[in-house]
Amino acid sequence: MEVGLKPPGMTVTIVGSQLGDEGKGGVVDLYGDEVDVVARYQGGDNAGHTVVFGEEEYKLSLVPSGAIRGKVGVLGNGCVVNPETLFAEIDGLRERGLDPDVRVAERAHVILPYHRVLDGIEETAKEDSDLDAGTTGRGIGPTYEDKIGRRGIRIGDLLDPDSLRTKLEYVVPQKRALAEDVFGATTDEAFDIGSLYEQYRRYGERLAEEEMTVNAGGFLTERIEAGENVMFEGAQGTSIDIDHGDYPYVTSSNPTAGYAATGTGVGPTVVGRGEVIGIVKAYLTRVGTGELPTELGSVEGQTPEDGGRPEMADLATEIRDEGGEYGTVTGRPRRVGWLDVPMIRHAARVSGFTGLAINHIDVLAGMDEVEVGHSYDLDGEEILTMPPTSKQWARCEVNYRRFDGWPEADWEAVAAEGYDAIPENARTYLEYISDELDTPIYAVGVGPGREQTVIVETPFA
Ligand code: IMP
Repeated sequence: MEVGLKPPGMTVTIVGSQLGDEGKGGVVDLYGDEVDVVARYQGGDNAGHTVVFGEEEYKLSLVPSGAIRGKVGVLGNGCVVNPETLFAEIDGLRERGLDPDVRVAERAHVILPYHRVLDGIEETAKEDSDLDAGTTGRGIGPTYEDKIGRRGIRIGDLLDPDSLRTKLEYVVPQKRALAEDVFGATTDEAFDIGSLYEQYRRYGERLAEEEMTVNAGGFLTERIEAGENVMFEGAQGTSIDIDHGDYPYVTSSNPTAGYAATGTGVGPTVVGRGEVIGIVKAYLTRVGTGELPTELGSVEGQTPEDGGRPEMADLATEIRDEGGEYGTVTGRPRRVGWLDVPMIRHAARVSGFTGLAINHIDVLAGMDEVEVGHSYDLDGEEILTMPPTSKQWARCEVNYRRFDGWPEADWEAVAAEGYDAIPENARTYLEYISDELDTPIYAVGVGPGREQTVIVETPFA
């Protein structure tokens, strides 16, 4: 290397190790000072992240969390972008005095109104056969379907009105026929070529006026080569990954770390040279349908036959309320379970975690005992990771381990003092997780704010 030349920047990839809602936004924010660019690589406005900054709380679903701290936010080619949500979030942040710098990959696909409508229609149609995933209704699945079917509309098309019109003229009649003839629905202007063209052409004009579009891979590579640090911010979690999750009760993208490369246009070696931090919530939650072997009790309306341990319903309610476990995007109450260790062992392998951030240990404080699902028995055999099919997962019986509970504490003081100030029983619990995943702990979340995080390791150092 020539003397005086700045070394390339570092990358850190943040991945949810469970079913989403592990508190990824807080970790992105925690390490945000050393980051220049935060890039999302998958998903869309189905994600919900809450970032607490000083006295202010920001709820975002599309804009990368780093953008509230003045970092450049990139929505990579692997994302699906609803321009209406994007501009509403940007305008909302501007009204609160922020000036977010958000770039969008020209290769990213656009969520159109008919995608949202079809998402709802198909979920309803699937209900009778229990195949509905309990989606967020944001049109995520139908948009990824069109991407793979080579009939999608990309951000780049919004900047090119001729291309936009040609593609709408091809695809919209198909979507209308699908809604009306296959599902027997009535359609409205969400399926009207003329009004879609006008509305989305205008979004294209705004993207161009504000110089928001980029070739994400090139943009990020230049930044890294110039010595800037990049964080790849995964949305959702490993067990709802389209390939590695509880299919079909999954989202339609890959939250796992491999997609940080594909979904942004940098090489896998770039991602692999950096850190990959798995975010673990100290217990488990799930919104939407699907199995949850360590489930505690049940959400209202579910019967004991739905599984779980109904006798622990009160405990689930306590954890739900204490942890604010209601969907950021949909407001739905989340189902609650004990930590499922086979699930996070699977996640650690799929993404190759180099570090862990374990959140919400404060929420479990004050209990006599905390349990974890340590392994499963499947068809007479003990297994340590999640099986590949949801039917097999449903047959798993959980082998629990019990840990002595830990007391409430002044968590801000704990965070200020450091790891050793964490109550001893909680440290035993944390070290068990770290040992089982053979991965060191980088941070421990003891509350929602940045000041309520115990930092053990700074990945950019
Ligand atoms: P979709 O991503 O809206 O298609 O929803 C598919 C499944 O993923 C549903 O079970 C959703 O509840 C779940 N899901 C999607 N986004 C999130 C998230 O950010 N956190 C937790 N679950 C999610």
